Amino acid sequence: MSTQSTRSTPSTRSVHDGVVTGRGTVTVLGATGRSGRRVADRLDALGVPVRRASRTGTPRFDWDDESTWPPLLDGASAVYVAYAPDLAIPGAPETVTRLARLAHDLGVRRLVLLTGRGETEAQRAEQLVADAFPDRTVLRCAFFAQNFSESFLLDPLLEGTLALPVGELTEPFVDLEDVAEVAVAALTRDGHAGAVHELTGPRSLTFAAAVAELAAASRRDLTFVPITLDEFTTALADLGLPGDVVDLLRYLFTEVLDGRGSRTTDGVRAAIGRGATDFREYAVRDAAVWAPGAQLVPGPGRVGS
Ligand SMILES: NC(=O)c1ccc[n+]([C@@H]2O[C@H](COP(=O)([O-])OP(=O)(O)OC[C@H]3O[C@@H](n4cnc5c(N)ncnc54)[C@H](OP(=O)(O)O)[C@@H]3O)[C@@H](O)[C@H]2O)c1
Repeated sequence: MSTQSTRSTPSTRSVHDGVVTGRGTVTVLGATGRSGRRVADRLDALGVPVRRASRTGTPRFDWDDESTWPPLLDGASAVYVAYAPDLAIPGAPETVTRLARLAHDLGVRRLVLLTGRGETEAQRAEQLVADAFPDRTVLRCAFFAQNFSESFLLDPLLEGTLALPVGELTEPFVDLEDVAEVAVAALTRDGHAGAVHELTGPRSLTFAAAVAELAAASRRDLTFVPITLDEFTTALADLGLPGDVVDLLRYLFTEVLDGRGSRTTDGVRAAIGRGATDFREYAVRDAAVWAPGAQLVPGPGRVGS
């Protein structure tokens, strides 16, 4: 496994220097999601034409309907691939590989694949996609910091207590703004072909320490409680979550968040020439999300990895 970024010598200049070598249209898959929205917004801000692809886009893109794929890829110079719900689900690596092959056949020059660290299926997908699209760039990410503000960890935090079966393990939570900036660099600039950018934050924290950071930033009384896996899955079942979501979360807390990913990397700096954003900076930026008075609001994408 790479420690930071491999097989390329990416430029140390940020895309925000304004030097964009690819002027063609970029297709962003999962463009209404956490990473894709950020990638698409950054491309827009740079003046790069973007096709935002998802089941609610026009034209519609659906991973489960291959007839929807060509219109989104034909004529694009680059594609950002965030598979949903997760590369760990059965058949996902093969599905992503079929899309990579189609993109290659249609002449798409750059493909950036979002994956997770320490995930067997994600790493299998990386290899399969490399066979279909040798110049692909991988963004192999740590647990997203934004899981605390835009995903399944938010609702319990808004009730004051986050209980997870993670013990004392530490995780170098990565800021999705960093991930998106690296993605845009790889989608629009030379020097990232074939690279595996292993992206983490600069500090590895326990979940208890992370929650303490959120509490300090938002001035809200937030508590972290370590629980067992059995207690966790029972609580998920009590919430009435669908079985596949429970399975995905069980997988996350047994095979992904098991301490293997504790080590930090310098992948963000290697890719875009600046250090990764610290968790505290993320917590301060998003503090209003957990602030006293912030309400539970129904929203898409809360449950998932
Ligand atoms: N969470 C983490 O900590 C973490 C860490 C490393 C890697 N990852 C990887 O991140 C990926 C998810 O990316 P994300 O968090 O940016 O996305 P996300 O926030 O989960 O959003 C999912 C996106 O995919 C779209 N989508 C869902 N089902 C679809 C379907 N059947 N066909 C087409 N589009 C579909 C959704 O839009 P519509 O609903 O409009 O279709 C949405 O735009 C997963 O592969 C996961 O393994 C996550």
